[in-house]
Amino acid sequence: MIKLMQGDCLERIEEIPDHSIDMLLTDPPYSSGGLFSGQRKASTSTKYCDNKYSGSAACPDFTGDNRNQLSFLYWETIWISKVMEKLKNGAIACIFTDWRQISATITALQCGELIFRGIVVWDKGSSRNIPYRFRNDCEYIVWGTKGNRSIKVQDELHVYPGCYHIKGMNTRKKHHQTEKPTELLEKLIQISPEDGTVLDCFMGSESTGVACLNTNRNFIGIELGKNYFEIAEQRIQEAKQRKISE
Ligand SMILES: C[S@@+](CC[C@H](N)C(=O)[O-])C[C@H]1O[C@@H](n2cnc3c(N)ncnc32)[C@H](O)[C@@H]1O
Repeated sequence: MIKLMQGDCLERIEEIPDHSIDMLLTDPPYSSGGLFSGQRKASTSTKYCDNKYSGSAACPDFTGDNRNQLSFLYWETIWISKVMEKLKNGAIACIFTDWRQISATITALQCGELIFRGIVVWDKGSSRNIPYRFRNDCEYIVWGTKGNRSIKVQDELHVYPGCYHIKGMNTRKKHHQTEKPTELLEKLIQISPEDGTVLDCFMGSESTGVACLNTNRNFIGIELGKNYFEIAEQRIQEAKQRKISE
């Protein structure tokens, strides 16, 4: 089952039945890209696309990326609390973030009453070069659970890495300015039950939905931008066709 919804996730989440989601895997707008409010209010192409020749500059801008630090924390707490009601007991929540917003994301996850379990590192293998600084070539997945996770004792022991070395997207192949590689998402999804349901309430171009299709999970995706919603609809149709012809 793949279900796509267009609109503000604060409203559309209400339509999802309570206690029905096995995993939240989502990549919200980081409201990052600058230390000062003026820089953070710039368009997403100014903040996240290296230059006008980068392939990702051809992707549309997106909204919801201009919050100041406190309103970002408040807003994350609200949507995480709403998602919380939809998660099954023991479900996993994985939320992408960057170095600037990692502390706000950890706080919001706990304000939303999830149990904070740790941080997974995504080593993208590249970043802008800024002289005399450490490179910011990693992003992070803050993760938690709704209550305790019951352990099923199986023949095979399942343990998942805390660090993934997967190259960031080739900008020429991007469907979204801040697209995440499906290879990474497929690996993260492995922690959720097969045939379970994954929610991405900031689905963008639907990379999580494609990863769910490829790994036999059900998917519910919500996207505010009409342009990205249309890209997502087309992308999933193409992914389905590819799967059939394999
Ligand atoms: C960081 S991007 C996600 C990119 C996605 N991971 C991909 O690979 O394509 C965040 C997305 O959330 C959407 N968004 C922003 N505010 C939203 C809201 N209130 N409800 C739903 N979607 C929202 C933006 O339009 C944007 O496409």
